[in-house]
Amino acid sequence: MSQTLRDARKYEEITEKRNENEEKPAFHLSARVGWMNDPNGFSFYDGKYHLFYQYHPYNSHWGPMHWGHAVSEDLLHWTYLPAALAPDTVYDEAGCFSGSALTLPDGRHLLMYTGVCKEHQSDGRICDIQAQCIAIGDGRDYEKYKGNPVLTQKDLPDNGSKYDFRDPKMWIASDGTYRCVAGNCTPDRDGQILLFSSPDGMNWKYDKILIANNGRFGTMWECPDFFSLDGKQLLIVSPMDMLPHGLEYHNGNGTLCLIGSYDEKEEVFTEEKDQAVDYGIDFYAPQTILSPDGRRIMIGWMQNWDTCNLHSPEKAWFGQMSLPRELSVVNGRLIQKPVRELNNLHGGEVRYENVTFSGIKMLEKVEGRKIDMEVSVRPIDEENMYQKFMIRFAQNDTYHTSVSFRPRESIVKVDRKFSGTRRAVIHQRRSRVNGKNGEIKLRIILDTFSVEIFINDGEHVMSATMYTDTSADAISFLADGIVTMDVVKYELLM
Ligand code: FRU
Repeated sequence: MSQTLRDARKYEEITEKRNENEEKPAFHLSARVGWMNDPNGFSFYDGKYHLFYQYHPYNSHWGPMHWGHAVSEDLLHWTYLPAALAPDTVYDEAGCFSGSALTLPDGRHLLMYTGVCKEHQSDGRICDIQAQCIAIGDGRDYEKYKGNPVLTQKDLPDNGSKYDFRDPKMWIASDGTYRCVAGNCTPDRDGQILLFSSPDGMNWKYDKILIANNGRFGTMWECPDFFSLDGKQLLIVSPMDMLPHGLEYHNGNGTLCLIGSYDEKEEVFTEEKDQAVDYGIDFYAPQTILSPDGRRIMIGWMQNWDTCNLHSPEKAWFGQMSLPRELSVVNGRLIQKPVRELNNLHGGEVRYENVTFSGIKMLEKVEGRKIDMEVSVRPIDEENMYQKFMIRFAQNDTYHTSVSFRPRESIVKVDRKFSGTRRAVIHQRRSRVNGKNGEIKLRIILDTFSVEIFINDGEHVMSATMYTDTSADAISFLADGIVTMDVVKYELLM
């Protein structure tokens, strides 16, 4: 093991103890210490889910990337393992960027990641270039492959940039050979996804450009994932520098899903539809796995590059993952639901039915910062459509975050402007939803410093972090007009 990795492992162990009293999310994986971004190497190996992550242990800001590591049996209770990778070789000295994992036929765990290194340019500049590398291990310790890097600038198409070539996501094809997709762009930074193949997971070759952006969605495409689901083929990708498109796509880094079909033999992906993956503020760079019981489960970084300067530099940790979500495709649309394992954490059920009110309403025992609450709202009758319904949570006399629904426009809005933030970054986002005659179902999951809102059984999802003091735990309901609602609320007990 290199000294760099040994140092990181020692540092995280000591610092974790020192930070023991820091409040952290309960069932969302957060950085063990320091900084976390993308999920990496999400896999089921040796009887457990493994989740690695982009990691800078030494402070709560992005820096030379390591891979942090955690395992779980239920995707909610996570145990940290020692850091798996450190930037300790000539080919990854500037960082071990995102990548994926698979199990080899001999039972070893295969990681593929992007190694970033410095290259001297003919004009004297030094630039970071990116190549794909491999590490093999036993679920705890990993050794970098002697043949690294396994895919370099030599493996790129003529128009492929060596400066933006990253985030390999592997899978096993139906004939047992290996494939991977990686993000790339043209010299003018138009995103494209490249497809590579390998007989054994070690020797890789370039196959083709699987799909080109052609100027549609942002610039460079990061963190692709490519899989079949419910008879469709999905490409999930995170483009940088998006321009807004109605309420579907927002400015900046976003995550979208292209739904279509795939001819595996000819390696041709035919796109049919596109949609955003998360309509909230904080979600990026997701990765999926197929669980042992056949579910396609996705986890994303519950943060966004444009809003991560929300936190103060003194914070001991920064960055958390989204809730793992079960995916399906229904009528050509990606549907997301919290993993069913979440139901096992349910305690202290509180139930209210047919609560009719206007103005402000608070309900006894409906409060908390670690809760799973479903609220179904409807007008009292069709002639009396309400103007607006709102739920405030993480609330005290000074602070709150809210989700609101305007039935006439069919728009749901999440707003954390009053969550205690002192930065002028995006605090609100709106999504157009299916509000059938003023009826809507909102499943709201709070975990300490975040909210995830699953609308109408997962047709739309909105995620946002809010770093409000956890003593602010009140919940109130507001109606402009008269509404009737049902509320079911559980505490989430770890
Ligand atoms: C996405 C990303 C990846 C890269 C990693 C670096 O958030 O920019 O493309 O591999 O983060 O930390």
